[in-house]
Amino acid sequence: MSKKTVSGNSHKPSAQPRFHQSARELQPFGTVTATMPLQLEEPVRLEMTEQLNQLLADTITLRDLYKKSHWQVSGPTFYQLHLLFDKHYGEQNEIVDTIAERIQLLGGVTIAMAADVAELTRIPRPPKGREEVPVQLSRLLDAHQIIITQCRELAELANKLGDPGTNDLVVSDVLRPSELQVWFLSEHLVNAPLVEVEPLKESA
Ligand SMILES: [Fe+2]
Repeated sequence: MSKKTVSGNSHKPSAQPRFHQSARELQPFGTVTATMPLQLEEPVRLEMTEQLNQLLADTITLRDLYKKSHWQVSGPTFYQLHLLFDKHYGEQNEIVDTIAERIQLLGGVTIAMAADVAELTRIPRPPKGREEVPVQLSRLLDAHQIIITQCRELAELANKLGDPGTNDLVVSDVLRPSELQVWFLSEHLVNAPLVEVEPLKESA
């Protein structure tokens, strides 16, 4: 008696899941679709998606630097920084998604995987090991500065090219949250006394 199987190899409908499929990619990285119903010309969308991919690669890296810092922090401020770093990680994770979805809606292709992000980002690679708190904070602040600088340049360029949507996203969703996070980090680098102040000198 012949054994009947549910074939997964035909294009006919079947209950058999099709495993291990592959095909050519739909759209290469670095391109935009020819037209989108957005009233934004292809060259503008190409320029904006290229710039946004740079911002995305740097933001993914900053996000991951926050998680590294969250896990590896040590010392007397462990608890508050452990929580603060994870809060900022969560906020950066939202920003990553916001930037990535704008790239796609402009007809582009997002950078996504760690190896590709590592090639593109301008944020220096930290060591694998643990570092002291002031060094962790300095790395995060330096990374923020790279992003803040690009935000200001990109916001201006977006306005010049007639893309206020990208301008608004960059200013409202990336720049301003970044400026706020910089404040929270910077205050941890103020050398304020923890227990005892220097007494005022008596005037003669
Ligand atoms: Fe955690």
